[in-house]
Amino acid sequence: MAPRPPAELRATVLGVGAYAPPKVMTNDDLARLVDTSDEWITTRTGIKRRHIAGPDQATSDLAIVAAQQALDAAAVRAQDLDLILVGTATPDMLFPATACVLQDRLGAARAGAFDLLAACSSFVYGLISAGQMIASGVIRTALVVGADTLSRLVDWEDRGTCVLIGDGAGAVVLGSSESGRGIYTGRVGADGSAGDVLKVPAGGSRIPATAEAIERKLHRGYMDGQAVFKLAVRTIPGLIRETVAQAGWTMDQVDLIVPHQANLRIIEAMASQLHLPMEKFVVNIQEYGNTSAASVPLALFEAVQAGRIHAGDRLVLAAFGGGFTYAACALVWGT
Ligand code: UT7
Repeated sequence: MAPRPPAELRATVLGVGAYAPPKVMTNDDLARLVDTSDEWITTRTGIKRRHIAGPDQATSDLAIVAAQQALDAAAVRAQDLDLILVGTATPDMLFPATACVLQDRLGAARAGAFDLLAACSSFVYGLISAGQMIASGVIRTALVVGADTLSRLVDWEDRGTCVLIGDGAGAVVLGSSESGRGIYTGRVGADGSAGDVLKVPAGGSRIPATAEAIERKLHRGYMDGQAVFKLAVRTIPGLIRETVAQAGWTMDQVDLIVPHQANLRIIEAMASQLHLPMEKFVVNIQEYGNTSAASVPLALFEAVQAGRIHAGDRLVLAAFGGGFTYAACALVWGT
């Protein structure tokens, strides 16, 4: 008998973790801050509550809880990690990277560490990037985190944005597998010409964080909500279709889609365009709002906890955000 060819090496998820800060803000709490109502927020977005970091909680403080949980679930020791990749638009500071803060706090002495900024798409971009490093044999084990504290950037007087956001973190530990399970493929994309629809203008090298910039609120997030909505609905269904085809699957073989939780109406539009029932989408926006890079791993974590994901299931993780960026990853669950 001819020897079996070696199975393809794939990165696969060994463990998942997530964390949301304990402080909860309801729609009624927001209605006391800005001119809005529970009815408007619920019908336009699907959001009922969001979790907000305490004054002493920076992004790494949320990330470390999710990371430790993912390591425990994976039965991997921090000192055995080769890489820590943190997807975030709200690092603890401009540099060093939040991944380096985590590397130190976890005691992951062997791990390389860097942050990746693709706004709300950062986690999926990171999953694809770290997954490729594993599949190509460059590294064996990676911690990929999506964590954001958008509450620190939002304009709490702007009802068009402050009602949408929440803080949180999610993490996965990736290892390698030759079982045929794991990450099949990923697609990343961007449209930099649409960068103005969602941005934080100040705090970088173009407009440093001066008193004048702060006075003009340029350190706060700006969003053209309708433009982002349209870009997402135009881009993401096609992205998911292409990713599924690139994996060699058909749409009806997909068991579950874990989408970025930006607006329930965007997820419903995706389901309708893809001719899929809403049961195939993980939705937890009602509890967390839009947690940016944390949104996909937080939804993945809750789906695992709820027993919705089984070994052998075909999943698609898909996100979009400022940039305009978008990314999707197709994977078969299990080791
Ligand atoms: O991670 C990616 C980041 N962001 C997104 O994905 C956001 C995508 N966009 C959206 O989710 C939606 O566009 C929003 C939820 C932001 C807004 O919903 P919309 O259905 O597009 O509302 P709109 O912007 O067309 O505003 C309709 C009305 C306006 O009043 P007028 O001009 O009709 O009198 C707004 O001023 O609703 C008003 N409005 C509000 N009313 C009560 C806007 N925000 C609020 C609010 N409460 N919080």
